[in-house]
Amino acid sequence: MSAFTELWAQLAPVGRDPETGGYLRYAFGAAEMTLRGWFLDQARARDLVVEEDGNGNIFAWWGDPAAGGAVLTGSHLDSVPHGGAYDGPLGVVSALLAVDELRARGVTPARPIGIAVFAEEEGSRFGLACLGSRLLAGLVDPAAAAALTDRDGVTLDTAMRAALGTGPAGARPDLLGRIGCYVELHVEQGRALVDLNRPVAVASAIWPHGRWRLDFHGEANHAGTTLMADRRDPMLTFAATVLAANDEARRLGAHATIGRVQVYPNATNAVPGKVSAWLDARAYSPETMEQVVAGVHLHAQHRAMTDGTKVTLTAESVSPETEFHSGLRDRLAKLLDDAPVLPTGAGHDAGVLSAFVPTAMLFVRNPTGISHSPAEHAPDPDCEAGIQSLADVLADLAC
Ligand code: GLV
Ligand code: MN
Ligand code: MN
Repeated sequence: MSAFTELWAQLAPVGRDPETGGYLRYAFGAAEMTLRGWFLDQARARDLVVEEDGNGNIFAWWGDPAAGGAVLTGSHLDSVPHGGAYDGPLGVVSALLAVDELRARGVTPARPIGIAVFAEEEGSRFGLACLGSRLLAGLVDPAAAAALTDRDGVTLDTAMRAALGTGPAGARPDLLGRIGCYVELHVEQGRALVDLNRPVAVASAIWPHGRWRLDFHGEANHAGTTLMADRRDPMLTFAATVLAANDEARRLGAHATIGRVQVYPNATNAVPGKVSAWLDARAYSPETMEQVVAGVHLHAQHRAMTDGTKVTLTAESVSPETEFHSGLRDRLAKLLDDAPVLPTGAGHDAGVLSAFVPTAMLFVRNPTGISHSPAEHAPDPDCEAGIQSLADVLADLAC
């Protein structure tokens, strides 16, 4: 059994739903806390110095972090609902094993090497993607973040206090200032490497992306007695909006998804009074992304007139486009045997950090391209190739 297979197997049961085979690892929930405990044990077993930043993010340092100019790697341990095993944890496990590999090579870093575990990257619990890295970077007000609620109405403040003993601390320029560069390894999301016959790629850019909540307000009423002509049914406005989002994205060469919906009162024999739906929109340019969102909103408003309903749009999480540091990108691609350079439509903490420090990403081949699903997969030999690549990158940048 390889070191990867062994370490990977330790994570496999944590937070796994036996019915779907997907993972339920929500920030500061039981499964994610188990993974955090596992990470702390792994870090201490390697004599790494553990530092928590007060925002739910964990750093494990090889070398004195106060020296500055650190080469940081890592990822996240939370998942989307019924997500795959690899999105996030692959970057954390690879970071630990890359440190082992460098030590086995007898390498002595001239700069500190750090492994980061970022909190709530998916935004699956509190709605704001990359919450931990945004807090660290000062991009979110800690008081506003503390008041964010999950689907059960639990605030981030309450969840963090229960899990870690403190609410979000906010910006940590001192810590950010000690990071010289960040390289996140991640499972490929989408399918390019299999056709290129390469196990590892370097990222070029992240599409701008965001999440918007659409609230459709109508009138709850009896399904059997309310005349069709008298109804103010927000489900109809919602349904028309789903189709409009699909049309709009196709027309503009963008991506739009409505993958989450809540219906009130959610009864078989009642016309709903309200429907809330979440629009995820992404595009190659911010203008196009905004055009998609504006187009969907306009369609929803038009349809609302027909249905006698009202619609409101609220931005919950918006991430600008990321163009990764070109010097670092080219250096890594050259180092890794002219690795392919690929853009992605998926968001990452690397996107947040790239506004502050030179940042790069490595992608490990996912033969089907499926992600945010239990079917997400990267073969063990490719994960091992990813670890070797990450070790080469850390050696190049830190030694
Ligand atoms: C995170 O994986 C995202 O792109 O939503
Ligand atoms: Mn993800
Ligand atoms: Mn991820």
